[in-house]
Amino acid sequence: EKITISVIKADIGGWPGHHKVHPALIEKANELLAKSKEEGTIIDFHVTYCGDDLQLIMTHKKGVDSEEIHGLAWDTFKEATEIAKELGLYGAGQDLLKDAFSGNIRGMGPGVAEMEITLRRSEPIVTFHMDKTEPGAFNLPIFRMFADPFNTAGLVIDPHMHMGFRFEVWDIMEHKRVILNSPEELYDLLALIGAKSRYVIKHVFPKEGHAIPSDEPVAVISTEKLFEIAGEYVGKDDPVAIVRAQSGLPALGEVLEPFAFPHLVSGWMRGSHNGPIIPVPLKYATPSRFDGPPRVIALGWQINKNGRLIGPVDLFDDVAFDDARRKALEITDYMRRHGPFEPHRLPLEEMEYTTLPGILEKLKDRFEEL
Ligand code: F6R
Ligand code: MG
Ligand code: MG
Repeated sequence: EKITISVIKADIGGWPGHHKVHPALIEKANELLAKSKEEGTIIDFHVTYCGDDLQLIMTHKKGVDSEEIHGLAWDTFKEATEIAKELGLYGAGQDLLKDAFSGNIRGMGPGVAEMEITLRRSEPIVTFHMDKTEPGAFNLPIFRMFADPFNTAGLVIDPHMHMGFRFEVWDIMEHKRVILNSPEELYDLLALIGAKSRYVIKHVFPKEGHAIPSDEPVAVISTEKLFEIAGEYVGKDDPVAIVRAQSGLPALGEVLEPFAFPHLVSGWMRGSHNGPIIPVPLKYATPSRFDGPPRVIALGWQINKNGRLIGPVDLFDDVAFDDARRKALEITDYMRRHGPFEPHRLPLEEMEYTTLPGILEKLKDRFEEL
């Protein structure tokens, strides 16, 4: 029998500014999901935050894209928004871009990562939650976990994963997808996902011959594009991901290892700057300096045979990531000193939150032919 893990998140108000989620919102979400658990809609749940994003982690038997589960998440965000309004939180309800729920929460503002899986004898998973960045920020770490032998020793050593994996990549501008095989098509894969603002990894699948059925994802990433839904900048699409580990998949430490390198991602202040992503324990998932720098938390879980979530374990709460954090702060200073200059500020085509069209309009009569 299969169970589904759903991670659904939304920014429905910050405290203060775009800093973090107020505990009252977490409390409300806990109360509503506890009720659904009692009624048997979901098996288990956990509510948390990353920066100003409220995170719902749920297990159930209703499959991906379930109207009931998405409806539950939507109603939870709606009700918590009422509290956000009462408290006068900043940007109350900001990610709820549509008025009425119409069966699926995708395309309505919140971010979604879900996978329906046949539980293995033991099922270790990691949920990743990022703030102040975009889905493409997962390209590099997910690639490293499932395709880079310098990160994942198992690709070389473990006969159960030596054949590699399949990557489903979405072109989020043309709304198309392609599946590429690793390692055979490694260079094609990198050619696409290196352009992380357009090509994003949506799923990783095992290949034929793996103990896990080849149509069951081993990793899934949220790829919502708020900008396209709203037609204007309304915040970055702070992404989430679910990754399965061990027994023919990357070991827990191979899943975490990519984050020892605080790679540059886009987001940060006004969604318009490149900066390092810092792997932090939950207590530091509180972007402050220049509304950042971008953060990622990693929560570890065992899913038991009944679909219960045994966790979370705050995986970046470890001295082994201290140097990554130190390095990220050094890069933060270095990048900040560029002020409004590229490549700290994003290149023109990625400036979603820009006054530039207005400035160009104002100056248009003063431009002369050369
Ligand atoms: C970045 C982010 C913040 C805001 C910034 C300005 O993702 O959410 O950096 O863009 O604080 O916010 P407003 O325009 O709401 O004052
Ligand atoms: Mg916000
Ligand atoms: Mg956010």
